[in-house]
Amino acid sequence: MYLQYLFLFSVLLAASDALVQDFCVADLSLLPGPAGYPCKKPSKVTADDFAYHGLAAAGNTTNIISAAVTPAFDGQFPGVNGLGISIARLDLAAGGVIPLHTHPGGSEILVVIQGTICAGFISSFDNVVYLKTLNKGDIMVFPQGLLHFQINSGKTPALGFVSFGTQNPGLQITDFALFKNDFPTELVAKTTFLDVAQIKKLKGVLGGTN
Ligand SMILES: *[C@@H]1O[C@H](CO)[C@@H](O)[C@H](O)[C@H]1NC(C)=O
Repeated sequence: MYLQYLFLFSVLLAASDALVQDFCVADLSLLPGPAGYPCKKPSKVTADDFAYHGLAAAGNTTNIISAAVTPAFDGQFPGVNGLGISIARLDLAAGGVIPLHTHPGGSEILVVIQGTICAGFISSFDNVVYLKTLNKGDIMVFPQGLLHFQINSGKTPALGFVSFGTQNPGLQITDFALFKNDFPTELVAKTTFLDVAQIKKLKGVLGGTN
């Protein structure tokens, strides 16, 4: 009996030995796969891998959307690799907007640090629009994969941070998918019911062709 327990114990120990890994800091010199980056050798890992200064400064909002998203995903912040968590900084100048978009990889929580943000998402099941105006300290959650947006609805710059339940949420901006590539205009018109003139106008603004 005792020997049996001993055997079982050593089997469990061997199994957990393989599973126990405190972290998997991204080795950015290698290509990521579906599960993220390969791990850096633990002997090469330092405290710097678990800290990141890249969100300290405001992003540049001098652009077409008057807004900037500064990511700290696995590609920028190697320490989050394998942990199913990440964060980004959101700067919205007055009138700024993060256009309608989705993150295929994970859900998002927004926390407003400064200013006023109108945010919303649309359910996929019945296309209900869930809208909120958020002020300093307010948070909102955006479920994985759903279309959502954020607008600075105040008169001053807005600052927020968005965290994700994934090390890399991915990003698809609806307008970019439709108007910032070579998707033939007649097919965009056919598949969206938009006017050709409107499509050409948006392609002109965003740099789309065809
Ligand atoms: C912000 O971006 C604009 C447009 O690309 C550029 O002209 C400007 O120099 C940038 N500002 C800073 C502080 O980098």
